[in-house]
Amino acid sequence: MTTSTHAFWLAGRRATGESTFDVTSPWDGRPVGTVSVPTDAQTEEAVAAAHAAVDTFAVTPAHVRAAALDHVARRIGERADEAARLISDENGKPMKWARGEVGRAVSVFRFASEEARRFNGGEAQRLDTDAGGTGRLALTRRFPKGAVLGIAPFNFPLNLCAHKVAPAIAAGVPIILKPAPATPLSALLIGELLAETDLPAGSWSVLTVPNDRMPSLVKDERLPVISFTGSDTVGYSIMDSVPRKHCTLELGGNGAAVVLGDYASDEDLDWAASRIAAFSNYQGGQSCVSVQRVIADAAVYDRLAEKVVAAVGAQVTGDPADEATDVGPLISEDAAKRVEEWTDEAVRAGARLLAGGKRDGASYAPTVLADVPEDTRLAREEVFGPVLTLHRVDGEEAAFAAVNASRYGLQAGVFTHDVQAAFRAHRALEVGGVIVGDVPSYRADQMPYGGAKMSGVGREGVRYAMDDYTYERVMVLTGLAL
Ligand code: SIN
Repeated sequence: MTTSTHAFWLAGRRATGESTFDVTSPWDGRPVGTVSVPTDAQTEEAVAAAHAAVDTFAVTPAHVRAAALDHVARRIGERADEAARLISDENGKPMKWARGEVGRAVSVFRFASEEARRFNGGEAQRLDTDAGGTGRLALTRRFPKGAVLGIAPFNFPLNLCAHKVAPAIAAGVPIILKPAPATPLSALLIGELLAETDLPAGSWSVLTVPNDRMPSLVKDERLPVISFTGSDTVGYSIMDSVPRKHCTLELGGNGAAVVLGDYASDEDLDWAASRIAAFSNYQGGQSCVSVQRVIADAAVYDRLAEKVVAAVGAQVTGDPADEATDVGPLISEDAAKRVEEWTDEAVRAGARLLAGGKRDGASYAPTVLADVPEDTRLAREEVFGPVLTLHRVDGEEAAFAAVNASRYGLQAGVFTHDVQAAFRAHRALEVGGVIVGDVPSYRADQMPYGGAKMSGVGREGVRYAMDDYTYERVMVLTGLAL
């Protein structure tokens, strides 16, 4: 099979370097693309261009930035089938989930165009509430902190790149996007579509820089904002290496779905089980908000466990190109071997395997375990694979305490019909988002998204990322007839 060589995007224009790397399908190892690597000089050129564009991009009119974002949204929609195949080829994501990701990326660019039009109108505050402020008015607007370095992960190769780039353009902030080495092709497609717009040169680059060359880019003072999505180990090491920079970190989680005792009809438990089964396995479990832990009240545990095991068993595994497939491979055989090692370790320590537990190359069968000892890696860490652990608890307080007994806190799902319990969950759970009546994996791309504890710092979600990339600057007007 022949593969095409993909250029990267340097300050808005197509460029190639002196070396390349190959992208292969995690499903069958077939080559899906060859990607050009920027030289050090080209990387320097992109950084200098981003830095130089900070002032000019900030005054590029909102209608220009909004039109560019609208254009990208429309073009992704027009090329949706191709984009979904690209995601599926480079990431191994089943087509049905890849199509969902493409639809979300269209929405992210559309939300960003809407936000670009209303952002930074300024907020006026009268100051004559005290005698010293007579005749004074404060006007607050937001200004760029500086150019952004966006570092994206492999698990949503299109949409998590959209979450870095679209808010930057909406806020008038230059960005250098660095995609994951395993999945750069979707990011390069975003570059291709941005190149069709008339955004100023320097306002965006997509650089396929290898990970081992990232430390100098991370430390570059001309990029004072870093927006990183990935593991907590890498995220906090970035933050520790640049303590004076503004870092937004979207990190891991071991998402919990709580099923309270009132959620007890057959219909309730069928819904909960089907959502848990689907969202512990989507992307092969490689989502920071996939369901890893099911924490069920003893009143419903046995019936729920039976339904979850049946629903997990009904997940269709196999070739991601097949429209019927629910669960494809993990990103690599090494990733699947790690999941296998953690699961085997839990079973040796006394966990009961209720479904799955088998690896075939980079694929790991959808797996359910009960009675997983607390001191195992499966119980404590983010598994980032299609593995679910079941936990029986007595009552709401114990359920919420079990959710919080984790160093992570990204999102939690709470299945209940009791609105008071929902409010208690919202108060008690140490997470960035509580999803009532559904799994922790629910994410609407316009809502604030991010973690508590080791799950990260700051928030994404288009408007929230725009705030994150900018800071408030107040202007006080004096001698006014208010
Ligand atoms: C993530 O894995 O952090 C992203 C989840 C999502 O966007 O749905």
